[in-house]
Amino acid sequence: MRYGYFDDHAREYVIDRPDTPLPWINYLGSEAYFGLISNTAGGYSFYRDARLRRLTRYRYNNAPLDLGGRYLYLRDDATGDYWSASWQPTQRDLDDYECRHGLSYTRIASARRGIRAETLYFVPLNETLEVWRARITNERDTPAEISLFSSVEFCLWDAQDDATNFQRNFSTGQVEVDGGVIYHKTEYRERRDHFAYFACSEPLAGFDTQREAFLGAYRGWDRPVVVEHGAATGSVANGWAPIGSHHVRLALAPGETREVIFVLGYAENPRAEKFDPPGSQTLNKRHVRPVIERWLRPETVTEGFAALAAHWDRLLGGLRVRTPDADTDRMVNIWNAYQCMVTFNLSRSASFFESGIGRGMGFRDSNQDLLGFVHIIPERARERILDIAATQLSTGGAYHQYQPLTKRGNNDIGEGFNDDPLWLILGVAAYLKETGDLGILDEPVPFDNLPGSEKPLYEHLTRSLNYTLDRLGPHGLPLIGRADWNDCLNLNCFSDTPGEPFQTTENSIGGQAESVFIAGQFVLAAKELAGIADLLGLHGKAAEYRAAAEKMTGTIIEHGWDGAWFRRAYDFYGNPIGSGENDEGQIFVEPQGLCVLAGVGLDDGLAARALDSVAERLATPHGIVLQQPAYSGYRIELGEISSYPPGYKENAGIFCHTNPWIMIAETILGNGDRAFDYYRRISPSARERISDVHRSEPYVYAQMIAGRDAPTHGEAKNSWLTGTAAWNFVAITQWILGIRPELTGLRVDPVLPTDWPGYQATRSYRGATYEITVRKPAGSGRRADHLLVDGERVEGTLVPPAPAGSTVQVEVVIS
Ligand code: BGC
Ligand code: NOJ
Repeated sequence: MRYGYFDDHAREYVIDRPDTPLPWINYLGSEAYFGLISNTAGGYSFYRDARLRRLTRYRYNNAPLDLGGRYLYLRDDATGDYWSASWQPTQRDLDDYECRHGLSYTRIASARRGIRAETLYFVPLNETLEVWRARITNERDTPAEISLFSSVEFCLWDAQDDATNFQRNFSTGQVEVDGGVIYHKTEYRERRDHFAYFACSEPLAGFDTQREAFLGAYRGWDRPVVVEHGAATGSVANGWAPIGSHHVRLALAPGETREVIFVLGYAENPRAEKFDPPGSQTLNKRHVRPVIERWLRPETVTEGFAALAAHWDRLLGGLRVRTPDADTDRMVNIWNAYQCMVTFNLSRSASFFESGIGRGMGFRDSNQDLLGFVHIIPERARERILDIAATQLSTGGAYHQYQPLTKRGNNDIGEGFNDDPLWLILGVAAYLKETGDLGILDEPVPFDNLPGSEKPLYEHLTRSLNYTLDRLGPHGLPLIGRADWNDCLNLNCFSDTPGEPFQTTENSIGGQAESVFIAGQFVLAAKELAGIADLLGLHGKAAEYRAAAEKMTGTIIEHGWDGAWFRRAYDFYGNPIGSGENDEGQIFVEPQGLCVLAGVGLDDGLAARALDSVAERLATPHGIVLQQPAYSGYRIELGEISSYPPGYKENAGIFCHTNPWIMIAETILGNGDRAFDYYRRISPSARERISDVHRSEPYVYAQMIAGRDAPTHGEAKNSWLTGTAAWNFVAITQWILGIRPELTGLRVDPVLPTDWPGYQATRSYRGATYEITVRKPAGSGRRADHLLVDGERVEGTLVPPAPAGSTVQVEVVIS
């Protein structure tokens, strides 16, 4: 069952009924001002940091999930009938409804009793504001008198404080209304530097800024008294809950359309004017007035929207594919790339599953997200790498997260996730492969942002590697610390007294538990760093890193191999985890993926055996589960993983992030059929027809799909902000289609499903354009051993870099 369809030409997903199983969301904004918006216009906005600069309010654990939004109410002034242009929050029946989620914009159209409303929401490039352009059409054959009410509820900036500190906040809210513009200026008294504004293009019949005046006592957003009565009250908020609502009256002739533009924006005073004029509580609006005037003009909106589309043409133009599979094409060309850009901007901060309060930018997460967008925005990837590296500590360890507004490490979470530092090497390696910009390695980068502590980025990478080598456990495997990639495998959560709750993280850090996952990750990272060192002419260093990789490989085979798969870890007491010796949690997916990616067990058949075990024990029709058998009860010595009921999240859910590791591993062994089959099992587009089971958006990956042990097997959860986006993009484009940047050129080494006759692609790489044609007799599962580059035969599959500006024809003939 479906709730809409893909319009590939328009690059939109079209939702044709408002009551989707969950709010299906989209993101607005591309640089500094962001918002999330559901298919019924729910969601909120913020400037840079979802926690510290929240513009509009979201009420946690609300029902429905997306309440708090960018709502427009319409009222037929002749009859008093009123409704919501986006269905929510009034839920009055609509004769027609359609939501089109596009690339950084959403359009919601509806009609009731002959009045049509179409609203376009977007954030223009290089602006810190959002535009709502409403077009109201009278489709009746008689004139109509319509009232239009806008509404937003302001958040008092710090979203955490806003949600909890009522005793104070009910008395701090302040607004100013001037020339029809509603200014929200809470905090201005104290900091005098930022405020929000909400403006309307039409003459106003009235306005409201106090929530209780607008809604009325004991009422919710579904039936505001002001809308019911058809008259704004002109309320000015002093404390309580500041909102913004404009009232516009429209007299519409039959067939007439009127356009009304609303602009909600964020403003910061220029530094010099921060305290000027001293003592005054009146907003300094000099610099925002022209911005507001400009964006209330229809031509500006039309041009701004066209510029946004052109921006996305540029971003997505760097890689276009045409394959025999329509789901693959739309994911690669549109949605997966788009989701990668959203994870670049939002990391794991704000969705309906991430609060925007709890998490900033993750060290591990952002390094992996980079893999999915480095080809789209290499300059911003460079900046991101330098920001992340500046939160590394001089020990080589890292803050687990940092706040986007301050770019400082987040102390509440601290360090001790022992996989973190190695992701920096993998992120930088991806950047170098894409760009060839070795200069980044010389960039001075501080540790913990401390001035004076700067060292070249390359030094950060060597400290990352040493961080692991300095922390090896009893078997010579890396210590896991608080956790590795699997946040919930908390093996140092021992208890001194049996039956007592687990100890604090101090014990966790000192613990002896070891990770086979980090061992595999280390081998991969050490080989990458060796390649980089070779390019710098540091051949001695390169040999050292390779020797370290070799040694760790030996340790994995000696202590990390369980007979038919790689073990997961050793716990605090030295017992294996992810072993046939265990009664539950016998096999985990992560080490099978990472060890094979690192090249462990390729020559001796172990890799192939491990992947067969994955196919036999972990693969389900809805994707590959994280481990089996699921833990049936809580186990103190394993921590959070066993706190989940079987089949959910890390306890044997289909944690989608890990699936592409197996896809890649399968391509390394040349198994195109298996790799692509796994790809399709979790592809949101391929799952669209089971939207009633999947329930989350069919255009983006979710973090998790409930595993086979769950009563809701196949149900996706936590959509949008997940490393799944980047890794699936890498798996399909770089390993299955095989278009893979390397340090010395672009490799084209497809590992395709047997029944594919080939595919075509265009890829920009270091300034040149590669037009790639792959031809393979259907039925052959072979790989290419040579290429034709501009008609000339090249042995192997590496295309040498071409001069910037040139176009190169690459033919791959698999015979
Ligand atoms: C989740 C993990 C997540 C972690 C973040 C856990 O509750 O299960 O998936 O990485 O929280 O702190
Ligand atoms: C989500 C977290 O963001 C990520 O860092 C972690 O690796 C996975 N959960 C698995 O626990």
